[in-house]
Amino acid sequence: MTTQLSVQQLTKRYKTGDGVTGISLDVGKGELITLLGPSGCGKTTVLRSIGGFLEPDSGDILIEGRSVLKLPPEKRPTSMVFQAYNLWPHMTVYDNLAFGLKIRKQGKAEIRKAITEVLELVRLPNSENKYPSELSGGQQQRVALARSLLLKPAVLLLDEPFSALDAKLRHEMREELREIQADSGLTMVFVTHDQEEALSLSDRIVVMNHGHIEQIASPQVIYDSPQSLYVAQFIGKMNFLKGVVDGGRVRVDHMEFTAAGKLSGDVTLAVRPEDVTFVSDREEGLSGVVKQVMILGHYAEVTVDLKTHGVIRAFQPRQSVDELYSGKVLNVNFSKTMAFQSM
Ligand SMILES: Nc1ncnc2c1ncn2[C@@H]1O[C@H](COP(=O)(O)OP(=O)(O)OP(=O)(O)O)[C@@H](O)[C@H]1O
Ligand SMILES: [Mg+2]
Repeated sequence: MTTQLSVQQLTKRYKTGDGVTGISLDVGKGELITLLGPSGCGKTTVLRSIGGFLEPDSGDILIEGRSVLKLPPEKRPTSMVFQAYNLWPHMTVYDNLAFGLKIRKQGKAEIRKAITEVLELVRLPNSENKYPSELSGGQQQRVALARSLLLKPAVLLLDEPFSALDAKLRHEMREELREIQADSGLTMVFVTHDQEEALSLSDRIVVMNHGHIEQIASPQVIYDSPQSLYVAQFIGKMNFLKGVVDGGRVRVDHMEFTAAGKLSGDVTLAVRPEDVTFVSDREEGLSGVVKQVMILGHYAEVTVDLKTHGVIRAFQPRQSVDELYSGKVLNVNFSKTMAFQSM
């Protein structure tokens, strides 16, 4: 894959000392990459640096092989979609969309054609003459997206564009953005603090923590093989148990699990709820008491109190929980575990 955007050792510190340090990432042409992390970890700082709204302290930003550091935002081959739609309320959808193209001195017929096409793409055909106040939040955000798409940026930057929308609409917009990306082949950098959004939307996810990158990988790899305890805690649901490394294995009570990498002393064993199994053999596994069985459609969430390790969560097929009840004593085992040095 050819690299469309390359961020190299980007450092930006505000006067307060907050900011980002040593951010390096390559984004392929046509790729949708997500910057994911909690509030304040530096996502917007990275995005605004790429867009030219912030001047980095050091490092470089290359788009299609050329450094854009010296270019002001309007000269960069980027376009940014913000959380607030920033449409001009006194202008129609058409005029909102045409504005950027007129500045670029495109012809009237050409502009009209491009606007018709882009409104089809964002599923708002024939809304040229409406005013923003006549549109729903989701529709306004689609106009804002259309406005950025019209500029045919080499890299489209999106900063939590759907966070103001309700859950259902947010879901729909994710699917639509994915389709738009497939249709347009655009390279996108998408910022969110919502791990579910990142998992469902991205080709790759950049997990950020406190101004640095913890892991860059596909959603699958991030979910199955988190590189750090931080990533394991942040992505998806996870159970954590205290363990100790002993002879190259992780020991949890009388049970042993494989330990990958250089681990010693106190470690944390991480287990996905779908990897928790219930065993009939009383000798095997850790003993616990069922606290709650919640039927959630095709699967059930079962919480089990393991006494010395607290309450863990297990996902079980719907049919297999018929004989479970609150207070039932059982043993649990784990089909897959990960171990991390305790923090
Ligand atoms: N203009 C500024 N001056 C000083 N500090 C700032 C400025 N902008 C951001 N910060 C600080 O830098 C850090 C990173 O901020 P940034 O906005 O990049 O985070 P974020 O990951 O986008 O967070 P959120 O999810 O809340 O939008 C935060 O600690 C923030 O308080
Ligand atoms: Mg932000």
